[in-house]
Amino acid sequence: MTLDLDLSGRRVLITGAGQGVGRGLALTFAAAGATVLVNDLHGGRAESVVAEVDRLGGQALACPFDVTDYAAVTDALGSAGPVDILVNNAGNAGAEGFSIRGRFAESSPADWEPFLAVNLYGVMHCTRAALPPMIENRWGRVLTIVSDAGRTGDPNSAAYAAAKAGAAGLMRSVALEVGRHGVTANCIALGTMRTPLTEPLWSQGDTPQAKAILQPYAIRRPGSPDDVGHLAVVLAGEHGSWITGQTVPVNGGFSFAL
Ligand SMILES: NC(=O)c1ccc[n+]([C@@H]2O[C@H](COP(=O)([O-])OP(=O)(O)OC[C@H]3O[C@@H](n4cnc5c(N)ncnc54)[C@H](O)[C@@H]3O)[C@@H](O)[C@H]2O)c1
Repeated sequence: MTLDLDLSGRRVLITGAGQGVGRGLALTFAAAGATVLVNDLHGGRAESVVAEVDRLGGQALACPFDVTDYAAVTDALGSAGPVDILVNNAGNAGAEGFSIRGRFAESSPADWEPFLAVNLYGVMHCTRAALPPMIENRWGRVLTIVSDAGRTGDPNSAAYAAAKAGAAGLMRSVALEVGRHGVTANCIALGTMRTPLTEPLWSQGDTPQAKAILQPYAIRRPGSPDDVGHLAVVLAGEHGSWITGQTVPVNGGFSFAL
C-alpha cells in the first residue's frame, strides 16, 4: 500500500506566491514534485521564491502579473502554457495601503472595490483562464484560498468577507460544471495566520491585542503556511479526485463546518 502525494509532472500556478501563505504553498508543491509557476504582483518577490525553490532542488519559474487585470492573466497563461493545478491565493485583507477596517454603514463603493478586485475578480479571471485546458485534458484542480471571514462574517471587513464568500460560491458552481471532465474546485478557508500581512500582530509577543484575537481559537496560535500546504497537496493530487465544491476550514478551531 502506498500513499501517493507525488505531483511530479504536474504544473501548478500559485497566485500571490511571493510571500506568506502563497510562498509556503509554492515550497510545499515543489517538495511534492510539481513545477511551480510563482505568480505575484511584485516580480522581485516571485523571483526570490523561485530562487528559494531552486536552492531546495525543486522546479519553479516566475510568472508575475496582476490577477485583477484579465488581459494580463490571459497573456501570462498564454505564454506560460496550460497548468494542471491552479491555486488562487492572491488576496488582500487590509495590508499594503488598503484601508479595510471600518463599518459597512460608513463605507463607500470606492472602499469595497480593491477587495472585490483581488479576492473575487482575481479568482474569476485566473479560474476562467486556466479551466479550458483542464477540461480538454480531462484532469484539473482549482483551489482557492478564502477566509473564515467569508463563512462566519467579520465585523469591519464586510467587503473582504463578501468577496471571499463570492469566491467560494464560484468554486461550488465551477465544481458542478466541470466535475464530469475530471476537474475539481475547492476552497480552503483560513483563520488568522502568521504571515507578513499579519506579522505586526505577533511580532510584539503576547500583547492584549494578540490575546484577544486568539481567544476564540481552540488552538491558541496563529496558523502557519505549513498548516495549509499539506492539505492543499492532498486536494490537488489523486487522493482529492472525489472532493469537490467544498470549503475546508484550516483555522485552529475558530469555527466549525457542520
Ligand atoms: N494572513 C491571514 O491571517 C489570512 C487569513 C485568512 C485568509 N487569508 C488569505 O490567504 C491568502 C494569502 O494571505 P497572506 O497572509 O499570505 O497575504 P500576504 O499579503 O502576505 O501575501 C499576498 C501576496 O499576494 C500578492 N498580491 C496581492 N495582490 C495581487 C494581485 N492583484 N496580483 C498578484 N498578486 C497579488 C502580494 O504582492 C503578496 O505577495 C489571501 O487570499 C488572504 O486573503 C489570510
